[in-house]
Amino acid sequence: MTRAAVMRALDGPLAVEDIELNPTGPGQVRVRLAAAGVCHSDLSLADGTLRQPFPAVLGHEGAGVVVETGAGVTGLAPGDHVVLNWSPPCRACWFCEHGEPYLCVHADDARGVPFATAAGEPVYAGLGTGAFAAETVVGAHACIPVPDDIPLAEAALLGCAVLTGVGAVTNAARVRPGQTVVVVGLGGVGLAAIQGARLAGASAIIAVDPAPAKEALALSLGATHYLAPHAGLAKEIRALTGGLGADHAIECVGRGETIRAAWSATRRGGTATVVGLGSAQDPVTFNALEVAFFARTIVGCMYGSTDPAVDVPILLEHYRAGRLDLAALVSDEVELADVGEAFSRMRAGQGARTLVRF
Ligand code: APR
Ligand code: ZN
Repeated sequence: MTRAAVMRALDGPLAVEDIELNPTGPGQVRVRLAAAGVCHSDLSLADGTLRQPFPAVLGHEGAGVVVETGAGVTGLAPGDHVVLNWSPPCRACWFCEHGEPYLCVHADDARGVPFATAAGEPVYAGLGTGAFAAETVVGAHACIPVPDDIPLAEAALLGCAVLTGVGAVTNAARVRPGQTVVVVGLGGVGLAAIQGARLAGASAIIAVDPAPAKEALALSLGATHYLAPHAGLAKEIRALTGGLGADHAIECVGRGETIRAAWSATRRGGTATVVGLGSAQDPVTFNALEVAFFARTIVGCMYGSTDPAVDVPILLEHYRAGRLDLAALVSDEVELADVGEAFSRMRAGQGARTLVRF
C-alpha cells in the first residue's frame, strides 16, 4: 500500500488514499519519492486543459530513491537517488535517432496505462509519473541518477521547471552572450528561464508578470527589469532595448495572449520561444502583414528541448558551482494532503514552486 493524492474525476478534489502499485515489471523501477514540485501542467491536467484519464495521481516533477528494480534493469539499484523524467525517450524512434529525444513518439506510452489500483479501480499516473505518491512505479528510462550529496528536494525541481526553463533558453532559443531576453510568466518555469538567461550571459533580462510580488524574486535570480503586462508592453520593452525590441522572448504561461505578447516583445528578426502549454481552444492570431514584415521566428519548445540524461548532469554542475539557485524557486512546502493549496495559489498567480515533502 502506498499513500497518494488521488484525483477521482476531472476538476475533482485531491484526497490522500491508499493505492496498490502494480508490481514492478520488467524494465521498471519502484521509486520512493522524497519531494515533488507542483507544476502548472498538473493544474492543466486536473482542469482538462491537457488530457488526462481519471482516477489519477498527478505530479511529474519528482526525485527520490530507488527501492526495487524489475527484471532486465541495468544501471540502477536499490538506494540510488534519481530524478524522474516525465518524457522518457525510447532511444530508437525517428526523433530519438535524430537528436530530438524530447519529441520521442513513445514518451507518453506510460500515460494511458494504469500504474496502480485504488479500491480495485485502475489509477493512472499523471504524465506517466505519479509523483504525488509516497512511491511510484516508472520505466527505468524515466530515472536519471543523481549523486547522493545533492539534496533530493532541490533535485526534484530539475525534473520539470528547471530542465524546461533553462533548456528553453540554452537549447531552444540558444541565447548568446550580450543578447536581450524577455521572460513572460514568472512561475517555476519562468524563474528558471531567468536563471538560464543569466547563465547564457544575456545583457538585459526583462521579467514580465502581472503579480508585483514576483518582482523581488525575479530580480534576485538575475532579471534586470520587471514589468507588468499591459497594452503598451512592447513599446516599454523597445525603450529598454535601444528602440529595437528584445533578441529573445521566452513564453512561460501558455495562453494565446501571452504567446502573442512574447512575439511582439521581440525585435525585427528576433525569436519568441514558446514553453507554455495551453488549451487547444485558445488561438494565437497574427495578421497577414506582420509575419513577413517583422521576420521573427517563433519556436515551440517541449521539455526545454532537453535530453534529461545529458542536461541534468550539466545543470548539476551549474548548481554545484553556485550558478543555479534551486532552493530559491521554492516558495512553499506542503504535505501530500495539501497539494490542493498549491493549485489554489497557482490559479491566483501566487508564489513560485510549491514542493511536496514526503
Ligand atoms: N503575462 C505574464 N505572466 C502571466 C500572465 C500574463 N498575461 N498571466 C499569468 N501570468 C503568470 C502568473 O502570474 C504566474 O506567475 O504566469 C505565471 C505562471 O506560473 P505557474 O502557474 O507557476 O506555471 P509554471 O509551472 O511555471 O508553468 C508555466 O509552462 O510547462 C508549462 O504547462 C506549463 O503552461 C505552463 C507554463
Ligand atoms: Zn511540469
